Amino acid sequence: MAGRKNALTIDGRKVRFQPGQTLLEVARENGIDVPTLCHLERCKPTGACRVCVVEVKGARSLVTACTMPASDGLDVSTGTDRVLAARRLVIELLMASGEHDCATCESNGACLLQDLAYRYQVEKVRFGRTGEHPPREDSNPLIMRDFSKCILCGRCVQACEEIQVNQAISFGYRGARSKIVAKGDLPLEDSDCVFCGECVQVCPVGALLEKKAKGLGRTWEMNKVRTTCTYCGVGCQIHLHVRNNRVIKVTGVDGARPNHGSLCVKGRFGFEFIHAEDRLTTPLIKDSSGEFRPVDWDEALGHVAGRFMEIRDRRGGGALAGLTSARATNEENYLMQKLVRAGFGTNNVDHCARL
Ligand code: SF4
Ligand code: SF4
Ligand code: SF4
Ligand code: FES
Repeated sequence: MAGRKNALTIDGRKVRFQPGQTLLEVARENGIDVPTLCHLERCKPTGACRVCVVEVKGARSLVTACTMPASDGLDVSTGTDRVLAARRLVIELLMASGEHDCATCESNGACLLQDLAYRYQVEKVRFGRTGEHPPREDSNPLIMRDFSKCILCGRCVQACEEIQVNQAISFGYRGARSKIVAKGDLPLEDSDCVFCGECVQVCPVGALLEKKAKGLGRTWEMNKVRTTCTYCGVGCQIHLHVRNNRVIKVTGVDGARPNHGSLCVKGRFGFEFIHAEDRLTTPLIKDSSGEFRPVDWDEALGHVAGRFMEIRDRRGGGALAGLTSARATNEENYLMQKLVRAGFGTNNVDHCARL
């Protein structure tokens, strides 16, 4: 019957789905919250963590909602005692797998594992740790890798391979020695890593960190200011994480065009110029003695406008030209060409990224 096609029951509700959707997608589309850890938007589901388990009537074992395709007539339960007990056990095992001392962790307050432990009230961890963790890697200036907090969810590997298409990291070793490795287990700076930081952004715990941000503030102490990256003409959308009027770190804005949360090394890590000691913070006018004199914006703009008009009136608009920059926004570039065409009266306008 056409009316029954592509329909399943989830938590007692009959819902429709599109062929190809997973149970996780169907649940979320219908406002049912199924927790995830390893699941990463825009990447193939791996089913690595098993936090998203749900119960399907008639199936012997619980299934992972992020990998299980929706199919006609399934009867799915997302919150039975069996499901909750399984999720608690998974969370407990993940907490036991590393050194999850939240009080001193940089990710405290921004950690999916911590959120899940709270949500499912995992107060005690009954299992001991297995083996030693590799030492923390902080030999490069940008990314710190703390293997003692890595839950081997694989999100970093997927982000590197499927989103940034860099393939710089992968799973290495086996069993208790499993580890995310770069180029056969070299430090990141000796591997194919281009330091885009995508892996840091997607790491759900405190295993990958922006090194420059370490110790400079907790997530809840920072304001997120949305802006546009100034490094090139793509116009990536970024969040500046600001504390006490200082930019602590930069992240991409998830889901926002054109970059959908991804950034390059410049956009993510190249923000120190903002607070550089020798950065110009006030306009300067060179006086007749050749010395620069600090002035306010009104005087500076009046001076520049006066000189432009003087040249235009004496030698014609063709004596002037405007060269714009990919570091400016589209709107600023539009205004620049308008000034040159309408104000100077010339088409002498060009752009550094044209060729
Ligand atoms: S990674 Fe998460 S769970 Fe582990 S110590 Fe840090 S905040 Fe706590
Ligand atoms: S920084 Fe970029 S290139 Fe390097 S491992 Fe992470 S995702 Fe891959
Ligand atoms: S480093 Fe982070 S993202 Fe990568 S596997 Fe470990 S926990 Fe997952
Ligand atoms: S989120 Fe489904 S297995 Fe990890």
